[in-house]
Amino acid sequence: METIKRFIVVLFALLVGDSLSAQRSETLLTSWKFHLGDEPAAASPDYDDSGWARVVIPHDWAITGPFDIRHDLQNVAVIQNGETAATLKTGRTGGLPYIGCGWYRTSFETLADSRMELVFDGAMSEPKVYVNGHEVCFWPYGYNSFHCDVSPFINPAGERNNVSVRLENLPFSSRWYPGAGLYRNVHLVSTSQVAYVPVWGTYVTTPEVSRSAATVHIETSVVASEGKMIECRTALKNLDGEVVAFSAVEDVFAGKPFVQELTVEEPALWSPETPHCYTAVTSLYVDGRCEDTYETLFGIRSIEFKAYEGFFLNGERRQFKGVCNHHDLGPLGAAVHVDALRHQLALLKDMGCDAIRTSHNMPAPELVRLCDEMGFMMMIEPFDEWNDAKCPNGYHRWFDEWAEKDMVNMLHQYRNDPCVILWSIGNEVPSQRKDDGWKTAAFLQDICHREDPTRPVTCGMDQVDAVLANGFAKVLDIPGINYRTYKYLEAYETLSRGFILGSETASTVSSRGIYHFPVVKGFSIRHEDNQSSGYDLEACKWSNIPDVDFALADDYKWDLGQFVWTGFDYLGEPSPYDTDAWPSHSSVFGIIDLASIPKDRYYLYRSVWNTDSPTLHIVPHWTWPSREGLVTPVFVYTSYPEAELFVNGISQGRRTKNAMAGYPARGLQDEDVESRYRLMWDNVVYQRGKVEVVAYDKDGRRVASEVVRTAGQPHRLKLEQASPADGRLVYYTVSVVDRQGIEVPDATDEIFVSVKGSGRFKAMANGDPTCLELFQEPHMHLFAGKLTVIVEHDSSAPVELTVTAKGLRKAQARIY
Ligand code: GAL
Repeated sequence: METIKRFIVVLFALLVGDSLSAQRSETLLTSWKFHLGDEPAAASPDYDDSGWARVVIPHDWAITGPFDIRHDLQNVAVIQNGETAATLKTGRTGGLPYIGCGWYRTSFETLADSRMELVFDGAMSEPKVYVNGHEVCFWPYGYNSFHCDVSPFINPAGERNNVSVRLENLPFSSRWYPGAGLYRNVHLVSTSQVAYVPVWGTYVTTPEVSRSAATVHIETSVVASEGKMIECRTALKNLDGEVVAFSAVEDVFAGKPFVQELTVEEPALWSPETPHCYTAVTSLYVDGRCEDTYETLFGIRSIEFKAYEGFFLNGERRQFKGVCNHHDLGPLGAAVHVDALRHQLALLKDMGCDAIRTSHNMPAPELVRLCDEMGFMMMIEPFDEWNDAKCPNGYHRWFDEWAEKDMVNMLHQYRNDPCVILWSIGNEVPSQRKDDGWKTAAFLQDICHREDPTRPVTCGMDQVDAVLANGFAKVLDIPGINYRTYKYLEAYETLSRGFILGSETASTVSSRGIYHFPVVKGFSIRHEDNQSSGYDLEACKWSNIPDVDFALADDYKWDLGQFVWTGFDYLGEPSPYDTDAWPSHSSVFGIIDLASIPKDRYYLYRSVWNTDSPTLHIVPHWTWPSREGLVTPVFVYTSYPEAELFVNGISQGRRTKNAMAGYPARGLQDEDVESRYRLMWDNVVYQRGKVEVVAYDKDGRRVASEVVRTAGQPHRLKLEQASPADGRLVYYTVSVVDRQGIEVPDATDEIFVSVKGSGRFKAMANGDPTCLELFQEPHMHLFAGKLTVIVEHDSSAPVELTVTAKGLRKAQARIY
């Protein structure tokens, strides 16, 4: 029986295999002309753009700078940070020239017998799209994907068509760097005129999932003339391309979606650890001819949020080990690049992170696809404001007319992706304080339920007292609290939902490789150098250090886990150096810096989250010529329960992690919470030489050791490949070492980059939030001994990267 079934499936597969439609084609429009400034005449197909710059999309017109304090200088009170009076905010949106108008122009050829559609993955912002002089589309929200049918406006087959796009970014429209321009991809999709699946036209759900079998339910929307007989064939393929199920239905088309239900035996379930995806290949046949073939990536997994027990994926309980990220890619700006995203996710994966919150806007489709394939759960969140303003020119201006359309696009675009586990309808929206704010929450949540009943809805709330009192929190499927860990228990008890999500946590601040003395814990501390200390004891006054969130997750079953603010540093929001603190212009919240180099905090999270591979990491570095004889605390971030520390062979004592539970009932910021997650030697006296930590397992056996040594005189540059070379971008870390190869942690030398062969220098960054050197110039100073160089290669021939610095031996690397 099993063999016969298999035979039938393969037979149908052959049928579908043969049927790949000649009709559907999709190309990326990458080559455009660009003009900075407003130029209304450029909407016309006859406009002469020969003087404009040639650019490749995705493109961010502002990331090339220069940085300037005057860009988007804001005199505001940030209400959600507890400010009551306006103060001068510097660097709030990154200090880059993103405000103003920009125009892009390109062209495409009309294909015979086709309808043609443009799909924008996002355009910053307020894009107006013109085709052959006709305004075909306007979509104000710069983060959302949208599409427009351009068929009525195109020239006859074989002729070219002009596309012009006008974009405009207003001042005071953002709380962070939004980027500028066609910063995401633009697709040209052509389909049959007879029958086709529209953009995001399938909806795949898996109503029944077990290890032995899964039901896959597919609804396929179709555009065709009513009354036509259409056959809809769908084959489900696994990762190896084998067809595992097939269905064909035929009907007189009446405008309704085709519904198919298929069974997959012994499905490969999707999870962060096993990111198995399937593809549904759907073909539409009319009069025996295949008019369209449409592919949908989906996964088979079950999700459940059980009161008092927590979140279950495929029947197994887990807590989110998530991070929030803004969309910019540091030195690449907002211009999306799949290799940069992949590199970010690879770093997060090794840290043990399993979830991403796309704060506070729709992600690039590339990110969602990577999360499907690499295994990250996602909470997708469209908005930072609803109809009440955070920024005078923010999204609230569009909310009433556009919120539903924006939600529907987002939901249709991503509701098939197995990685998406939760929708969040907003972040700390001012509406949460209002008596009738719950109505807007219910309105948005209902849209999610209507378009995708398979996933629950949350919202990041920071006004805990207000939302508990005014009914706002009660509306939500999943109450999400931002910070205010001391309110979790109260919220849990008051809402009686049976769980609380840490929708945004920590906001610990630190600069990579910078340490301040004496080591003290504190909130919104500002040091003279505009850097936050790498001992990971500083947070904003509304937030907390990571240890508090770990303790909550460990102690309370109803804690669904967390999304840390943030995985990566981002451009803008340089708190606590945001008020009259230029040249600070990028954040220090990241676990990983703006150059994609992990900070010490990375190892603190790794020690708790990565349960597959051990962590043993010493803080700080041990090259302190000015600290001889001074108290220089040593922290060790480790997954082992116990360790002994030695300075030049002299024991500083053995420390064991404090196993005390019950936080936060015993009060916020209890010292015990730190000693539960870090091993700390507070009274170590600095002496040049060697610090060694020896770790012990729970049975007291010596299992690992780690050493940090004092560096001698700087001798040569070191280049380390930080990302794989199988994409187009390769990340390198540059540092300075002494004759023994020990890294010089405080080196600040200026590094010069040259790239020869089949590739080019793309960008560089050092992670210093105060650095005004340009990312796109091939020279930059090291910050705390390191920087990142990004090289773009064409994979056709080798590329040679050389880094030099005055007085140091150069370093070279080859990409093949
Ligand atoms: C939160 C907010 C984030 C970011 C963060 C900084 O309140 O949701 O967008 O501003 O504070 O700590």
